[in-house]
Amino acid sequence: MSNNIAIAIDGPAGAGKSTIAKLIAKRKGYIYVDTGAMYRAMALYFIEQGIGADEQERISKAAPGVDVTITYKNGEQIVWLNGRNVNGLIRTEEVGKMASSSSANSEVRKKLVELQQALARKESVVMDGRDIGTCVLPDADVKVYLTADSHVRAVRRYEELRAKGQECDLDIIEKDIIDRDNQDMHREISPLRQAEDAVLLDSSSMTIEQVADAIMDLCDQGVK
Ligand code: DC
Repeated sequence: MSNNIAIAIDGPAGAGKSTIAKLIAKRKGYIYVDTGAMYRAMALYFIEQGIGADEQERISKAAPGVDVTITYKNGEQIVWLNGRNVNGLIRTEEVGKMASSSSANSEVRKKLVELQQALARKESVVMDGRDIGTCVLPDADVKVYLTADSHVRAVRRYEELRAKGQECDLDIIEKDIIDRDNQDMHREISPLRQAEDAVLLDSSSMTIEQVADAIMDLCDQGVK
């Protein structure tokens, strides 16, 4: 038995999981594991190989040979794809969409879930994703299902992109968010859903600080 603590944060795209998970990890001195980034790295590989989102057989065949690893530098997670640092390449809409499709593949999930579980055996972690509380770390010490209204999530994303000087359309962003929710919630293997023992937090009208404080309270209470 290890004394490592695991905090699992699941929820739909754009709910603020990574911002919150990073904050909690910093406050607790745990490592932050962004599992979406691992699915994104795999997706980037498939895109680069010219494999289409609906080519499940090619994805199954290729996945076992892809090397995805993560390391940490100054508390930042670095994702390596076949020995190449791909942090700067995985945050695009194209990669996000491909990740949502290719993450439905059992070979992709098998490989990445093993990597995630190995990390949690070694260190105390705050891990965010879609299936952490339900599949990856079913015995996590604290489980949170973080969500927000799809319109609120779209507005946040819109403002983020605008702040970076990118042109974007709020309606298209909201439609993409709803499509991605549907795909992630209705796939056969490990769909996104709230674990029975997860605490539901709706961040629609909460600030980042309020959400982080609520999770810190759950940690103090040792809520499962
Ligand atoms: O959180 P994100 O947007 O970086 O995740 C990209 C996609 O990866 C998401 O649409 C579904 C998939 N994913 C998953 O299936 N399981 C996880 N634990 C994390 C992400």
